[in-house]
Amino acid sequence: MAAAWVSGARCGGGRAVVYEECGGAMIRRRLREETSQQHALLEQRMLAGGLLGDDLARSSYRALLARFHGFYAPFESLLANATDWESLGPVGPYRARTPRLASDLLALGVADDALERLPRCADLPILSGLPRALGARYVVEGAALGGQIITRHVRRTLNLDVETGCAFFTGDGEEVGRHWRAFLGLLESRLLALDDQSAAVAAAAETFAAFARWLDQGGHA
Ligand code: HEM
Repeated sequence: MAAAWVSGARCGGGRAVVYEECGGAMIRRRLREETSQQHALLEQRMLAGGLLGDDLARSSYRALLARFHGFYAPFESLLANATDWESLGPVGPYRARTPRLASDLLALGVADDALERLPRCADLPILSGLPRALGARYVVEGAALGGQIITRHVRRTLNLDVETGCAFFTGDGEEVGRHWRAFLGLLESRLLALDDQSAAVAAAAETFAAFARWLDQGGHA
């Protein structure tokens, strides 16, 4: 039923191949459009907090990374167990970013035991099942795109590099774009049914919302 609706509504045809192409393109558009307001708000808040300001202080940058760590550490544990990523081909396995956050915090002077004691978010979305896992993963894979802009700024204002406190935002560097396109390919091939797409979009929106709440609680802009 869902297949016929997608095919008919977007492409005017009922053949399986048409359905696959259009279902694939549709999930990219839906994820972007249906979370764009949440993204814009998060981006504005982080800009208002001075992340891209010329007077960015090392202490505020470190506090923001600690807050990211408090979300990413439990979120990525949940995500790792949400589905069998290994079975999804070359781009399936998820590359966790928490280790980069930890190495940045250590490089910026946070002690090992203090890192362990940092508060962690317990108010996370339920991620079970492939569609919801993919929707939630979309948020953290996409965040790496903005990371490239932040990296350039942090390098310039705080003179930090991958070794000295900017590994998280640097991510895979020049590989980020290629990895993002490969991940979009995974979304397109795995989220064809309308119900699955809706589950993915809901999980992405809930992930954005959980992250925003977590920043709120920490007093971060
Ligand atoms: C100052 C902070 C941020 C900046 C400057 C920023 C900037 C960007 C930029 C430039 C893109 C690429 C757009 C494109 O190539 O079409 C992007 C995409 C994205 N960002 Fe951010 N971002 C920020 C924060 C975040 C955060 C905190 C998250 C999530 C936790 C996030 C999630 C995403 C997602 C999911 C996409 C993909 C959108 C799509 O489907 O095309 N961003 N961001």
